Amino acid sequence: MSDGVEAVRRTVGERETRRANRSDWDAYADEYQATHGEFLGDVGFIWSPEGVTEADARVLGDVTGRDVLEIGCGAGQCARWLRTQGARAVGIDLSSRQLQHSRRLDAETDVPVPVACATATALPFADGSFDVAFSAFGALQFVYDAATAVAEVARVLRPGGRFAFSVTHPVRWSMPDDPSEEGLKVTSSYWDRTPYVEQDAAGVVTYVEHHRTVGDWARILGRSGFRLEDLIEPEWPEGHDRVWGGWGPVRGALIPGTAIFSARLG
Ligand SMILES: C[S@@+](CC[C@H](N)C(=O)[O-])C[C@H]1O[C@@H](n2cnc3c(N)ncnc32)[C@H](O)[C@@H]1O
Repeated sequence: MSDGVEAVRRTVGERETRRANRSDWDAYADEYQATHGEFLGDVGFIWSPEGVTEADARVLGDVTGRDVLEIGCGAGQCARWLRTQGARAVGIDLSSRQLQHSRRLDAETDVPVPVACATATALPFADGSFDVAFSAFGALQFVYDAATAVAEVARVLRPGGRFAFSVTHPVRWSMPDDPSEEGLKVTSSYWDRTPYVEQDAAGVVTYVEHHRTVGDWARILGRSGFRLEDLIEPEWPEGHDRVWGGWGPVRGALIPGTAIFSARLG
């Protein structure tokens, strides 16, 4: 968080959320890639700070010959790995600076990923374009209107298509974003959906995350025709000591930090 910016809980709508998050991710992209790029791997698919890889978890199943969409792809590391597994993977992201990093990795890895600058709530694809859609800590917790984002995924998927996404585990929203023992206390209600907002001294919103409970996600998926097939709550691996924001070994040993929802259309 920059100087002069405070964190609050307050209501923010879709348009303001998108404006704030686009400029925040544009400004933060270089630092994000410098800090986390090595952990993510230039051609690597990591679902969460616990280090869950798609190679091990196989949440998406066999992607050979499949049309795959990554939502909130950042520098496209996950889609890039899927292309090496035989998928026709493409990505979208709200931040043009994140997508510039994707183009940099296209050149550096020689595994190009087609990408478009777009929001998860208005996917720039025709109905029934994909077999699989996923998001690894991408857009889902950054949109006000998650129901529209999930309905958009249902629209662009073919019947029987798979949708999987990772988000901050909903129980973590009731705790401070602190990886130390200080973060092991409940300071707000689990059921308080008021967004986490960073705002400057003039009250201008600079960053937003939206919280939904486990039940909210199940209902949002069900209303768009998805059947929830799995909810993975990765355990913190022994010997893994990397701290990423509020994630780290201290809290990771006791409570989940990530939820990976896996659903099928129809
Ligand atoms: C934590 S990063 C994750 C990116 C990538 N999956 C990774 O693991 O590095 C979140 C990404 O979501 C993107 N994002 C935020 N809001 C979005 C929206 N409404 N539509 C599409 N992407 C969005 C951000 O620009 C950012 O690149």
